[in-house]
Amino acid sequence: MSDQQQNQLWGGRFSESTDAFVQEFTASVGFDRRMYRQDIQGSQAHASMLAEAGVLTNDERDAIIQGLDEIRAEIEAGQFQWSVALEDVHMNIEARLTDKIGITGKKLHTGRSRNDQVATDIRLWLRDEIALIDGEMTRLMTGLLDLAEREAATIMPGFTHLQTAQPVTFGHHLLAWFEMLKRDRERLRDCRKRVNRMPLGAAALAGTTYPILRERTCELLGFDGVCENSLDAVSDRDFAIEFCALTALCVTHLSRISEELVLWTSAQFNFIDLPDRFCTGSSIMPQKKNPDVPELVRGKTGRVNGHLIALLTLMKSQPLAYNKDNQEDKEPLYDAVDTLAGCLRAFADMIPALEPNREVMREAARRGFATATDLADYLVRKGIAFRDSHEIVGKAVAHGVDQKKDLSEMSLSELRQFSDQIDEDVFEVLTLEGSVSARNHIGGTAPDQVRAAVARGREAIGG
Ligand code: ARG
Repeated sequence: MSDQQQNQLWGGRFSESTDAFVQEFTASVGFDRRMYRQDIQGSQAHASMLAEAGVLTNDERDAIIQGLDEIRAEIEAGQFQWSVALEDVHMNIEARLTDKIGITGKKLHTGRSRNDQVATDIRLWLRDEIALIDGEMTRLMTGLLDLAEREAATIMPGFTHLQTAQPVTFGHHLLAWFEMLKRDRERLRDCRKRVNRMPLGAAALAGTTYPILRERTCELLGFDGVCENSLDAVSDRDFAIEFCALTALCVTHLSRISEELVLWTSAQFNFIDLPDRFCTGSSIMPQKKNPDVPELVRGKTGRVNGHLIALLTLMKSQPLAYNKDNQEDKEPLYDAVDTLAGCLRAFADMIPALEPNREVMREAARRGFATATDLADYLVRKGIAFRDSHEIVGKAVAHGVDQKKDLSEMSLSELRQFSDQIDEDVFEVLTLEGSVSARNHIGGTAPDQVRAAVARGREAIGG
């Protein structure tokens, strides 16, 4: 590398050029240019503040703001020359500004450091991404509520241990997914509070001797407040870790939903159909229609969990304040954001398109002795202790297995072999509709409760 390419921004102290490989190895511009918009936004606010503080003249401020606007346009038009020699997004943009407006460009960095600059950029960037992700989460949640309302009375088997347990409504099952996402969105919004704090003003680590107005920059950038300690401001990436943690949880939830969709679209379950546009075929087996979207989302949990561990490990044992280690925060964070946004988008598109096979679901519930608990509860209402009624119903089920008959298919006299407390009214509780409607309390599976929960969900979504 020629000396001319030597980084002008710190060249003063150096007597030889950076080794060519070291330059490549330490550069981050290949990925952190993704934050160019936030870098410019932060610099423009910083320049405005410096002018108000009397550190820059208004003319200098205007030249800087205008120059940065032009640079943004150059980048967006694909005309900007990114240079690895200039290491990162910050120095690329600053060097270009000086090219354009001369010595005034060199004044932009007064009272700040790349350490508080990069921490600010990441927070601004993540804040923007959180807004988009929040929108996709909300779209998915709305889709779940709409589907749950439509399927409030659709009956399916509920499972424990993946064995048929009790009948539930499909709407109720969908609302369980909704609850998971509701908590994920709460976590996202809670994380945003800690993302939305401004490091700028911390400078390299100790603050700056210029009469800066941090509150003013904070206001210009829409932060909720400043980071209160300069050492902490430039060093901690806990907000990014927190984001990855909530992402890991959210994608874990999506993987659980995915797993159920994969099972339910199989020929063995056949509970739902996924429209062709969310599936692919096999190049060899003509009959195949594979649920690729849920499978892929299920697989994405691995990389997202990896990013969480990467960032935790990156942060572990780092002494105060800024260390170059922190440059490694960006790629995991970017990929966590992209992965979460992609998974949510795919799901928000796909969920409203699910087509339940209502008869198949109902038949599966009917066949699996799903109303056995209802019979036990019936006997309790007739005065039998629950443990005894459990034993009685167990014997009736064994008889049913033997005879290949569900409880509701047995005659009254057949049922009365197990208890003389059983009367004609037993058939009301053995029906699937009777079973789900009887669980009529908040959080229960009754169709009326599903509708009420959908109404509450719509309120929660608006909030
Ligand atoms: N590219 C760096 C990063 O991503 C910017 C801050 C560099 N600061 C420094 N003192 N080397 O963290």
